Amino acid sequence: MSVSSQNPPQQSGNNLDPWYYNYAARTAGLAASEVRALFAVASRPEVVSLAGGMPAVSALPQELVIDSMNRVMREQGSVALQYGSGQGVPKLREQILDVMAMEGISASADDVVVTTGSQHALELVTKLFIDPGDVVLAEGPSYVTAMVIFRSFQAETQHVAMDEHGMIPEALRERIAAVHADGKKIKFLYTIPSFQNPAGVTLSWERRQEVLAIAKEHGILVLEDNPYGLLHFDAPPPPAIRSLDEDGVIYLGTFSKTLAPGFRVGWALAPHAIREKLILANEAAVLSPSSFSQLIVSQYLDTIDWRAQVDRFRGVYRERKEAMIGALTEYLPNLSWTDPQGGFYVWLTLPPHLDSKQMLPRAVKELVAYTPGTAFYADGSGRNNIRLSFCYPTPEAIRVGIRRLQNVINGELDLLETFAATGPLDTVRDRTFSAPPPNLD
Ligand SMILES: Cc1ncc(COP(=O)(O)O)c(C=O)c1O
Repeated sequence: MSVSSQNPPQQSGNNLDPWYYNYAARTAGLAASEVRALFAVASRPEVVSLAGGMPAVSALPQELVIDSMNRVMREQGSVALQYGSGQGVPKLREQILDVMAMEGISASADDVVVTTGSQHALELVTKLFIDPGDVVLAEGPSYVTAMVIFRSFQAETQHVAMDEHGMIPEALRERIAAVHADGKKIKFLYTIPSFQNPAGVTLSWERRQEVLAIAKEHGILVLEDNPYGLLHFDAPPPPAIRSLDEDGVIYLGTFSKTLAPGFRVGWALAPHAIREKLILANEAAVLSPSSFSQLIVSQYLDTIDWRAQVDRFRGVYRERKEAMIGALTEYLPNLSWTDPQGGFYVWLTLPPHLDSKQMLPRAVKELVAYTPGTAFYADGSGRNNIRLSFCYPTPEAIRVGIRRLQNVINGELDLLETFAATGPLDTVRDRTFSAPPPNLD
């Protein structure tokens, strides 16, 4: 039966989607970004993409995975192919404790819930806590796809400013006071303290304690998202916030960056009471996380020197980060950027009158792609910022990409000079290459 014969007249639809007016209000938050179409072009091989956050899975010897997979199928095939527990495979939950111990966390496997990537844990936590109109506090800028989830549950994301040491405690206090003065309810503080996505900065140890103390003082739950903590280049980041407090923090981890994202295995470590609800929400959503993936990850952790493999990943990303910082220093010396000590991302600040979203089509034409800064703010900020990912392209490709970016930026500046309505050319030129102060808010 056709859609139109079953449904009310077409005034309830539009030309492209006859169901347009039938969607739940919350789907308004699921609008595709304007740059999505460009990214389809950017995935062509001749384009150097500094846009995505794809891990360098080619640095993982495939034999290691094949061995683990073969053993699982030989020894536990019928378990791997079956539904499992909504909380996750018990042995894997024990092994996750060893992983988290490297970040200073001591916990019980009873409080670990395995999820379909940490992305799914983010969604489950949001589902448990958010009513329409609630406020989530998040660093400004913050992880774009977390904010998509918050928006899809009709939460309002409000940002807390950062500097090169991460979230600024004073800004957190001020933001909490402003939200309360507005009569709104803050449900949690979402933070990525180590090698933040997208800014690449790390919350200092002093600030971790201060941020937690402020959250506790105001009865605000902390949602600590830590996919990159183990991928440090030299010194490890400070211990996780969760190492300081087990009652007021939900901690999210994942094997996506330290093993491979294709397994879709992540986890939440939650305070006891919340854990119970998380398991129920997990069961309602997926019945059980994939037994197959969990057993392979568990086998891998059991039989492979996974710490040595994490160390190899660190080496790969360190080399790529150095290539990016080297190329920025050479080609764009008058701009400012963050210098991450781990993770995947550099946050670049353009001259204030350049708009990174407007510039993107020109960049893709010049065969380089990046993510405009506005993607990482809920309030339209970030116009003169760019997130550059160094995780996926080779060091050579990164250099080529940054050289192309230099051309794009110069082209844009030439255009501005030609059509400057804002004042004499020299003024534009002066403002362009006076390095702006670090600006992450
Ligand atoms: C900050 C942050 N959180 C969560 C995720 C989701 O990771 P996954 O679902 O693969 O565990 C990502 C992925 O890039 C991320 O950058």
